[in-house]
Amino acid sequence: MRKVLVLNGPNLGRLGTRQPEIYGGVTHDLLAEHVVETGQGMELDVEVRQTEHEGQMIEWLHEAADGDIPVVLNAGAWTHYSYAIADAAALTTYVEVHISNVHAREEFRSKSVLSANASGIIIGCGVGGYDLALAHLSAM
Ligand code: DQA
Repeated sequence: MRKVLVLNGPNLGRLGTRQPEIYGGVTHDLLAEHVVETGQGMELDVEVRQTEHEGQMIEWLHEAADGDIPVVLNAGAWTHYSYAIADAAALTTYVEVHISNVHAREEFRSKSVLSANASGIIIGCGVGGYDLALAHLSAM
């Protein structure tokens, strides 16, 4: 089975209790279980990780680059300003995912430093966006 890393950035570990009116009620653990199952149905070996630490995320992206492992990336707020994450992500094949519709929220969320090099972008489809990202990667 082809390996895929699903990498979630800061505050996404709080899914379920964090602004449920925006992000829904699914916890990160449930999301992780669900996307692993979705991956199995697509012959993908999915591993889900989450971190609050930018250096950790960069190291995981390097691991993906070195292992030629495609990535589903929700970089949380780093999306909007972290050139270091953008540079590391650019070493990989990745789909940028946002649970919420970032274009319907505060102005700063409309800008993404990740989009230019993404293989695809999925925004505002809720946690189902991760399934769509996996479908895209499985079809590549
Ligand atoms: C997010 C949107 C970001 O603006 C925010 O900082 C997040 C989550 C999303 O999935 O909708 O942490 O990436």
